Amino acid sequence: MSARTSNALDAGLVLGIESSCDETAAAVVRRGREILSSVVESQAPLHAEFGGVVPEIAGRSHLRAILPVIDAALSQAQVGLDQLSAIAVTTQPGLIGSLLVGLSAAKGLSFARGLPLVPVDHIEAHVYAAAMELEREPFPCVALVVSGGHTALYHARSPLAIERICATLDDAAGEAFDKVAYLLGLGYPGGPQIARLAEHGDPRRFEFPRYRPRTTRGAPPPRFPPFSFSGLKTAVLYHLRGQNAAAPLPPPEQIPEREHVAASFEQAVVDALVAPTLAAARELQVSTVLVGGGVACNRRLRTCLTAAAQTAGIRAHFPSPAYCTDNAAMIAALGWRRFEAGLVAGLDADARPN
Ligand code: KG4
Ligand code: ZN
Repeated sequence: MSARTSNALDAGLVLGIESSCDETAAAVVRRGREILSSVVESQAPLHAEFGGVVPEIAGRSHLRAILPVIDAALSQAQVGLDQLSAIAVTTQPGLIGSLLVGLSAAKGLSFARGLPLVPVDHIEAHVYAAAMELEREPFPCVALVVSGGHTALYHARSPLAIERICATLDDAAGEAFDKVAYLLGLGYPGGPQIARLAEHGDPRRFEFPRYRPRTTRGAPPPRFPPFSFSGLKTAVLYHLRGQNAAAPLPPPEQIPEREHVAASFEQAVVDALVAPTLAAARELQVSTVLVGGGVACNRRLRTCLTAAAQTAGIRAHFPSPAYCTDNAAMIAALGWRRFEAGLVAGLDADARPN
């Protein structure tokens, strides 16, 4: 082993690259814990007028942003490519055209500099985001990932053994926030805007439905019931428009008690997330719950889950808001753990959209 390589391994510096959806991100993290830089370029304004992510726009914007974002992450960390131990990159899941931009950049650097390439699962990195900021390892635990594309519970035995135990039947929680925000005349992404409006509203003013899984007569209930948010979204739609499906939506300024609708909807989402998460922790006899993904920024979710967990004798950990939404620090941090375990890939590594 050359002196350069052995020093680089000792330093434990990993460059993380993330481009699975609508954020181009790069970060440098030392030994999976010390975040030296985390650069995120959001495309949200480009997608705002469409009310959601447009894959073609996302792919092209990643292409423009990827190299400047990587340069910025390295220079903010004051780290050169020669000092890196490895490059970690999101390979799944996500938009294929977006994933390929980050993966191609990572492969190019890996080949040019002889650096190991570490593929990372985006959802597992959302799980790890809450762990990377903790003093002590929280595993084994239950993890709730709530983002724009995913809402699922995981049994995480270790950073390298993360098993999905249930998911949503339809919309993700963040997607429900984005769709209801559209109904309320708010912009994209909808979660932060609903949360802001809801601060002035009464969460108990309207009783929107919380999903209860149906059980087949005679069959035992599922061990980990799934989530569902489309009924809740439809309930808000009918509330705003009345029962006449052909009636147009009222213009935003004419929606009565808009802030109470926002707060009551937000509370319904939070209730639908908190109870199954704690039930899963009890079922699996773990004393820690991690939460990740963009919706983990939500203040009502943070407060309600933390309080309910405390009552149940369970610890709940959320990442700092910057590491809830898509970022590359979580990719680099989990990438280090995978690198230590020898989970490196060749230049034929594939991107997998699902
Ligand atoms: O994890 P993320 O950045 O991207 C995906 O992987 O999807 O999550 C984005 C989602 C969006 O749906 C956005 O509306 C939601 O997270 N979000 C929030 C909040 N901040 C972001 N939802 C509720 N409350 C928030 N404060
Ligand atoms: Zn994400």
